[in-house]
Amino acid sequence: ASTHRHTFVVREASYTRLCSTKDILTVNGQFPGPTIHAMKGETIIVDVYNRGKENVTIHWHGVNMPRYPWTDGPEYITQCPIKPGSKFSQKIILSFEEGTLWWHAHSDWTRATIHGAIIIYPKNGTKYPFHKPNAEFLIILGQWWKSDVNAVRDKVLAIGADANASNSLLINGQPGDLLPCSKSGTFKLTVDHGKTYLLRIINAALHEPLFFSIAKHKMIVVGTDGSYTKPLTQDYITIFPGQTFDVLLEANQRPNHYYMAAITYSEAPAGLNIYDNTTTTAIVQYRGYYTPSSPPLPHLPAYNDTNASLQVMASLRSLADAEHPCNVPLSMSTNLFYTVSLNSYPCVNDSCLGVNGTRSASSINNISFHTPTIDILEAYYYNISGVYGDKFPSFPPLVFNFTYDYLPLLYQLPSTGTEVRVLEYNSTVEIVFQGTNLVGGTNHPIHLHGHSFYVVGWGLGNFDENKDPLRYNLVDPPRQNTIYVPRNGWATIRFEASNPGVWFMHCHIERHLSWGMETAFIVKNGKHPEAQMLPPPSDMPPC
Ligand code: C2O
Ligand code: CU
Repeated sequence: ASTHRHTFVVREASYTRLCSTKDILTVNGQFPGPTIHAMKGETIIVDVYNRGKENVTIHWHGVNMPRYPWTDGPEYITQCPIKPGSKFSQKIILSFEEGTLWWHAHSDWTRATIHGAIIIYPKNGTKYPFHKPNAEFLIILGQWWKSDVNAVRDKVLAIGADANASNSLLINGQPGDLLPCSKSGTFKLTVDHGKTYLLRIINAALHEPLFFSIAKHKMIVVGTDGSYTKPLTQDYITIFPGQTFDVLLEANQRPNHYYMAAITYSEAPAGLNIYDNTTTTAIVQYRGYYTPSSPPLPHLPAYNDTNASLQVMASLRSLADAEHPCNVPLSMSTNLFYTVSLNSYPCVNDSCLGVNGTRSASSINNISFHTPTIDILEAYYYNISGVYGDKFPSFPPLVFNFTYDYLPLLYQLPSTGTEVRVLEYNSTVEIVFQGTNLVGGTNHPIHLHGHSFYVVGWGLGNFDENKDPLRYNLVDPPRQNTIYVPRNGWATIRFEASNPGVWFMHCHIERHLSWGMETAFIVKNGKHPEAQMLPPPSDMPPC
């Protein structure tokens, strides 16, 4: 079922969930949106028509897009938005990615309902590095608000996170039968006893890290973020917004019905209306068996079990074999240390309605990103000055006890700017992301465009530059595109900046992105023509 050209019509469609109906933005009227099937190394063209009422852009999450940032998608970073009534033909250029990735809108909060899967099969003549499954299923995890998502966004931006909780989590667009008016739509996955299934799981939720599990069944993790991993047997997985997991499910239990379920992982103090505390479910049903009584629920970690949230990350290893070599850089030309912080400004006018009269913000190295009105890529390519600065600091302005509760005032009031970091072609880059305890701190799934990276280490507390690097995994670190930086902890990634262009990097928790937790890299051209950015397409949406 693989075609090389797709048509995406962005338009409103009416959907009913949790007993109420609203119009949502969709692609082709579908929610979740259509699946793109491809083979490793293929290029696909998607003609995107905006027939909705608001600006939109589409991003291919985890696709490295070699030398071609032009159709990567983040608004005001690599393009201006596709306006209502306009069209943009986008290329998806696959190279080494294999497994499950996804696409989503990358304009404001429109990705709440504009998202879908990208499935990348092995090339003809090559195979999965695991036993061929009997069948495959997609599991797209999401979030549903009964009210209009733009209204939710406005409230979150004005007030803060305490206005944010969705009305339910979703599996394949459905709340599941524990929630009102949701029984008939509940997703059902039919299996035959004795067979093995590949589940491609995507966390497309706007804000929620999730625990996911299947009652009485183990999951064998075989891939994440479009790269294979050594098989890892799990009772549950923790999946952060932006991440994907490929898992094998063996239908080896007593033929019956079983629930699969997801809940939010959150460190929020009880009582704050920050996270969605519903349980979304779907059903695994063995063909030919039907039990009318309620099927068993899986055992999931407690919603605030931080140790449980870390366990999957602690165990992930890349294959690192002859066919899937580990290319982690061993000597670094660029060492970066980025603090990722929540901030809260004191109120300066009456529209600050947050906790104790504050306004929420977030920052990297104490800079809260200001989105420009002309995209950075075009400003770079055409030498338009005044759009961005190239002074993003490689180190925070102040070193302090990042995870302690005394926090310097300077850090509570970040500056605002549109600063990027310029990288030489083929430089080897290490970034240590350090969480801080500002506003209590939380976890941050940090996503990089244009490059997959190796996650060589992580830990709790402050990063120790003398001790922690000695424990880096330089043998078989997982290759990912979205890294979990734990609350009051740190994580280190390494990659080779071999993809010339402009590449966004941001927290994949959407409200943190709205508050400024983002920056970009410009990777310069190399000397040889094949180390240089390709020219732009002729139909770039005008700014
Ligand atoms: Cu999944 Cu910048 O996005
Ligand atoms: Cu974040």
